[in-house]
Amino acid sequence: MRPAPKDSTGTPGLDVSLPQELVYGCMGLGGNWSAEPYSSAHVDEAAAAVEAAMSAGITLFDHADIYTNGKAEAVFGEVLARTPGLREKIRLQTKCGIRLGEQGLEAYYDLSRDGILSRVNESLARLRTDYVDVLMLHRPDPLMDPAEVASAVGQLMAEGKVRAVGVSNMSGPQIEMLQDRLEAPVVGNQLEMSLLKRAWLESTVLVNHAEGTDYSFPHGTVEHCVRKGIRLQAYGSLARGLYTGAPAAVPTPAEEATSALVTALAAAKGTTGEAIVLGWLMRHPAGIAPVIGTANPDRILACAGAAEAAAAMTRAEWYGLWVAARGSNIP
Ligand SMILES: NC(=O)c1ccc[n+]([C@@H]2O[C@H](COP(=O)([O-])OP(=O)(O)OC[C@H]3O[C@@H](n4cnc5c(N)ncnc54)[C@H](OP(=O)(O)O)[C@@H]3O)[C@@H](O)[C@H]2O)c1
Repeated sequence: MRPAPKDSTGTPGLDVSLPQELVYGCMGLGGNWSAEPYSSAHVDEAAAAVEAAMSAGITLFDHADIYTNGKAEAVFGEVLARTPGLREKIRLQTKCGIRLGEQGLEAYYDLSRDGILSRVNESLARLRTDYVDVLMLHRPDPLMDPAEVASAVGQLMAEGKVRAVGVSNMSGPQIEMLQDRLEAPVVGNQLEMSLLKRAWLESTVLVNHAEGTDYSFPHGTVEHCVRKGIRLQAYGSLARGLYTGAPAAVPTPAEEATSALVTALAAAKGTTGEAIVLGWLMRHPAGIAPVIGTANPDRILACAGAAEAAAAMTRAEWYGLWVAARGSNIP
């Protein structure tokens, strides 16, 4: 077991930070979400995805205990087992807190102390590793007791099983409530953010506008994360390919216009549509880290130029994409 890293104050976990980077999301690995076992083809697919991600410069891999019913972690564990030295080259992030298909419920949340401890130990066994670099609390559990969460996370960090703690789908006040009890700093917050899912952005400019009530995103969350140095990770960042060639049932005029603009910008700048879509997120000063969920090696490689696309994106181009995606001018 590797000991938990310590910073100069001796506090475990504090030297683990999340830079702005592309993150590989493993939700699409391992087959479907049924109880059906995975096959060797799924392991091969995961190995190809990991190889493509690393070729694209990605070293952080995002999991959750529930992804494809545990199979995403399990196939990833097989890839780690058959690739000596891989674990040391990458960082692993997993999440716990959602329970599916148990206790007669389709879903419920569980951030109890026992729930966190059991789920992390199960994830480590599936991933065939002694530690994860980041543990994210997947969703706010209304029944969670921050002291209990802190006790479980503190134990896992002291045991060297978890190196840093983050959250997902949480507002600024919810993070603060947990942070009051957690010894280690919350290093990341994973939220749905994309050209399609813009509530995080719209809510910042629609203050005092009736239209703003259409967006339930908790105002101040992005600002809280920026002020506290909490890395925002964007899931659904490719908008499931909506603007880069994935067929939409009946595309709206805004979707068509955005796809055309993404294609034109990519051609003009000698990059890919994926890099433009992700670069738009990375251009925002919050330092958003996009989590990409494609398992297609070509599409993974097409994401590689996102940071460069962000750096080359003018203010007018950034606003142009936003206006196209919202289908109307900003106030
Ligand atoms: N924290 C949370 O609550 C939460 C929730 C959801 C997801 N996540 C994480 O975020 C990651 C990314 O989320 P996501 O997978 O929903 O979003 P995404 O990256 O926007 O979409 C990936 C999906 O879109 C498809 N796709 C992308 N481009 C395409 C194209 N041009 N043509 C056809 N299909 C295309 C991919 O299929 P192919 O594989 O065939 O390319 C894949 O199914 C997940 O893997 C997971 O790690 C977190």
